[in-house]
Order: sequence, then structure tokens, then C-alpha cells
Amino acid sequence: MDSFKFRCKKILLLGSGELGKELVVEAKRLGLEVIAIDKYDNAPAMQVADHSFVIDMSNKEILYKTIKELNPDFVVPEIEALSIESLKELEKEGIKIVPNARTVEITMNRDKIRDLTSNVLKIKTAKYNYVFEYEDLEKKSIDIGYPLLLKPLMSSSGKGQSLVKCKEDLLVAWSQALANSRGKIVGVILEEFIDFDYEFTLLTVRKENGENVFCEPIGHEQFKGDYQCSWQPMELDQFLIDDAKRITNLILNNLNGAGIYGVEFFVKENEIIFSELSPRPHDTGMVTLVSQNLNEFELHLRAFLNLPIPKITLLKPSASRVILSHGEFTNPSYTGLTESLEVENTKVLIFGKPTAKKGRRMGVVLSSNDDINIARGNADKSANIIQVIS
Ligand SMILES: Nc1ncnc2c1ncn2[C@@H]1O[C@H](COP(=O)(O)OP(=O)(O)O)[C@@H](O)[C@H]1O
Ligand SMILES: [Mg+2]
Repeated sequence: MDSFKFRCKKILLLGSGELGKELVVEAKRLGLEVIAIDKYDNAPAMQVADHSFVIDMSNKEILYKTIKELNPDFVVPEIEALSIESLKELEKEGIKIVPNARTVEITMNRDKIRDLTSNVLKIKTAKYNYVFEYEDLEKKSIDIGYPLLLKPLMSSSGKGQSLVKCKEDLLVAWSQALANSRGKIVGVILEEFIDFDYEFTLLTVRKENGENVFCEPIGHEQFKGDYQCSWQPMELDQFLIDDAKRITNLILNNLNGAGIYGVEFFVKENEIIFSELSPRPHDTGMVTLVSQNLNEFELHLRAFLNLPIPKITLLKPSASRVILSHGEFTNPSYTGLTESLEVENTKVLIFGKPTAKKGRRMGVVLSSNDDINIARGNADKSANIIQVIS
């Protein structure tokens, strides 16, 4: 009886990128029905889902009507550019938004998550300020001090983010941020540039019963705000891990929704600085597909479906390296795949995106080894052989 009910669960995925694709694969392994939505056709997750639709998810009426008609058991956001008004309304009407509409709203807006973490919870972050009028930009930048980072209030993967070294850089940075801003509110956040020693993601599963369970820290490197490589475990002093866990508990106990969270931290001079978090599988966490007994996609599903999550263990140190496109192509091909697959203990994921753009993430290589440095080297070697071509 119980298993029959479980099998009938219908999941609606909002955003159908590579992270959504892996989530769908795990959902299909459990026999769930999945509908994948995105703004373009044949997106990665659509290729493995039961059904798919192309809609403008930032349009309140369209999103509301689509979800209402499809009537899923769970609405699972994979991206940030969504009409939050629709999600809030649907939640009030009893539709389950993962992890909950308030968390989706707070984490999609850089100002809301800063207000909660820095002002309310008193967690250490980079110094910051918001700017909504160009006239205020220079004065507020002086208050933060150069160099600083200027980011759209709503964006992801480093889009629209600029390093501002002096006041002459402000105009270009402002224009780029507004051009890449996703939401309705046109504004930017200025952040003190933290010259950190390293950064990491603490993947944390929050269970329905309010318990927070931590994965091993994942180290990562970013270029212009976009993820390039990651590895797990990252060696960190225990007191730093403990502090990151303490901060994560503070935030998740406030947000209070079941699912996986990617919580990002900087470490500078033996101090933890909170950066941001996302209430869904994290791009740097794709490494868990090979490193852990339960990967981040299974963990997300099990958490919001309220299924058991036995002990999470690291099976083998592992690393990831992204495969980027260097040009713009429709229906791209890939060279070097055969050679790259020859690298031992290595898995190549090609996301199947229908178009390649300069700098767009098209795949990832995952590699495991008892020695994390060998895993990292093998992931790099294998990824670098692959070329995205027309
Ligand atoms: N205040 C900062 N100081 C230094 N580096 C930063 C700062 N904010 C962001 N970064 C760098 O840019 C990356 C992306 O920024 P983040 O705020 O996480 O944006 P996104 O939402 O696009 O992931 C970070 O992982 C880090 O490498
Ligand atoms: Mg980030």
C-alpha cells in the first residue's frame, strides 16, 4: 500500500539543466513521474524526464497556470529566475514547494539572504551594500572600499559579476550587472572583495524532522564567479569545519525546509566567512556522483520525499573538472571522448545541451583515487582532452 502511494508521486522540475538531469535520473530510479520545464526545448533534464514543457517561468500567470494544471506532488526549483509570487500563492493553496517558498525567495535574492544572515543571524560575511540608482554608486563604493565585487541582486554562475578596482570601472560594471540581472528589481550588491585563502561548499541535508546532516567539505575553484573544478574531501582544520556547521545550523534552522543545501564559505586567515547558499543540489557537488554512497541528487530527493537517509559516507576521494565550450555552435559535437574515457576511474558526463556558447558548461569529468591529487589530475587530464566543436 505504502509503496503504491509512493510510486504515484509526481515531481515538477522548474529548470532543466545538468543538475536537474541528474535529479531526474535519480527520481526515475525510484520510479517517480517527472515533468521537466525550462525556457528552451530539449534541455538536459527534459531528455530523461517523462514529459516536458517550455514556458516563461518568470511570468506569474503562466507559471501559476502551468503548475495548477499539472498538479504535481512536489515543485522542485532547479534555477533562481522564477516567479516567486506564483510559488507563494501555490504553497498557500497546498502545493508543496521544495524546500519551501520563503527559502526559495530568500536565496534567490542576494539582498534577502544577506539581510537574514548578516543582520538577523549576525553571521560574518563580506562587507556589503545595495545600490538601486547609479547616482549612489560611487559614494557607496567608497564606503565599501576598492577592490570590490559588484553583482546583480539576482543572477547565478557569476553572470553580471565584476571586480571593480577603481571608480573608473564602475560604469561598465553597473551596465554589465543590469544586463545580466534576472529579477524584476533592478539593483546591485557591492561586496568587499575577500582575498580568501580558499573556498568550499558544505553540502547539508536537512531532514523533514529538522535534523541537519553534513557531507564532507568540497573544495572548489571559480573563474570569474563560475565553477571550474571541485574535490571532496577538502582538508580543513576541525575548528573551521565546526564553525561552518554552526553557521549552517543557524541558517537552516531558520529556513526550515527539507532538502539539500549547498552552503558556500570562504576561509581567510583561519576564519570562516559565509558567502551564499542554494536550497538545491550544487554544481560543485556533482563530484558526489562518484565520491559518496548517496549523491547530492539522491539526498535531495530522499529529504523532501521524507525517505530514510542512513549514514552518508565518503567512498573515495574524488574530483570534478568542467568541460567548457570555446565557441558558439548548434547541436555541438565532442572530440577526444574516446581518449578521455581511457583515463582510469573516470566518468565523463556530457550534458546534451542543444547549443554551445563561449564559456558555457557542456559537461563535467569526475574522477576518483585514494590520492585526491591524482583524482584531481586525472579529472583535469580527461576534461582537457575533450573539445566542443560544431
Ligand atoms: N565577496 C567576494 N570576495 C571574493 N570572491 C568572491 C566574493 N563573492 C563571490 N566571489 C567569488 O565568485 C564566486 C561566485 O560568487 P557567488 O556569490 O557565489 O555567485 P553565484 O550566485 O553566481 O554563484 C564565488 O564562489 C567566489 O569565488
Ligand atoms: Mg555561488
